[in-house]
Amino acid sequence: MSSSSPSTSPSIVSSRAPGKIILSGEQFVVLGAPAVAMAVNLYSKIEVRPSQSGRIEVTADIPLHLVGDADKGSLVGENRELLEPLRLAASATLDHLAMRDRGVHVEANCQIPSGAGLGSSASTTVATISAVAKSRRARLNREDIFKLAFIPENYLHGHPSGVDQATCIYGGIIQFKKPSKIKAITVKRPPTILVCDSGAHRSTKALVGAVVKRSQEQTDGFQSHLDEITSISNAVVKALRKEDDNELGRLMNRNHEMLRQIGVSTPDLDRLVAEALQAGALGAKLTGAGGGGCIIALCADKKDRSNIARKLRNAGGTIYNVSLDASGVK
Ligand code: MEV
Repeated sequence: MSSSSPSTSPSIVSSRAPGKIILSGEQFVVLGAPAVAMAVNLYSKIEVRPSQSGRIEVTADIPLHLVGDADKGSLVGENRELLEPLRLAASATLDHLAMRDRGVHVEANCQIPSGAGLGSSASTTVATISAVAKSRRARLNREDIFKLAFIPENYLHGHPSGVDQATCIYGGIIQFKKPSKIKAITVKRPPTILVCDSGAHRSTKALVGAVVKRSQEQTDGFQSHLDEITSISNAVVKALRKEDDNELGRLMNRNHEMLRQIGVSTPDLDRLVAEALQAGALGAKLTGAGGGGCIIALCADKKDRSNIARKLRNAGGTIYNVSLDASGVK
């Protein structure tokens, strides 16, 4: 459902979208099991204005430490790996709206570390689609944005399940199952979560590819993993609704163990998970594709979260005290 096309375009418009964490089911969701994900208050912001060249132009202002570069500074301008998905997102949106005028300048500003499992690519992609549509005075519904986001996400990730973009679009907590089953999970009290970045950033495409290959070689073993993760994700939803943090923590621990078994954890992630549990977390697991990136830890309350954060910082992690984003892209 897109609104009718405009005669004039506004000069400058913007959209923002949250990042995400996965509470259960990453990797297995690509193979058809359900995942539970939560949108978090780390944002990407996209501004769109008319371009001088009459073509799609994309620039980004992304602090380099968020891209995993030791030297601090800003990445402005050319970086194909980061900017091409945004160009594809803008192009797909203009095609969808049947716009012949391609003259948009997309400026990305992202607070979400890239390659860390927190949904930076889905968030920037979704915000780009929304902002480009606004620049043409069109409003896309969530289903349209979800479908369009596969174009840049396929380019970047190979065969994404869609859970990342769904979470960044809808906000809140969702249960997601391929190809497009999205169930909003309403909770009275969102879980108190701490995100800890190991600092090693990596390619989701390579990690997902390796898991898919392994699942094709070990069909039986993977079927039992898929059955178990289906029960885990269903139980995670129940635990969230009942505010049963002990049960949620237990499920997260088991999920991490399964991710270890399929080879996507690393010694560093295992160490951070162990540190978090030792410091009093009720549960901890890697989040996202693995191979580096972040862990999440479930904390009893904010006071416990500060203590656990201190320990993880001493262990070399970078901490994000995230909270639920309820609104999704806007
Ligand atoms: C990445 O955030 C989640 C994965 O399951 C990939 C996907 O679902 O597209 C690893």
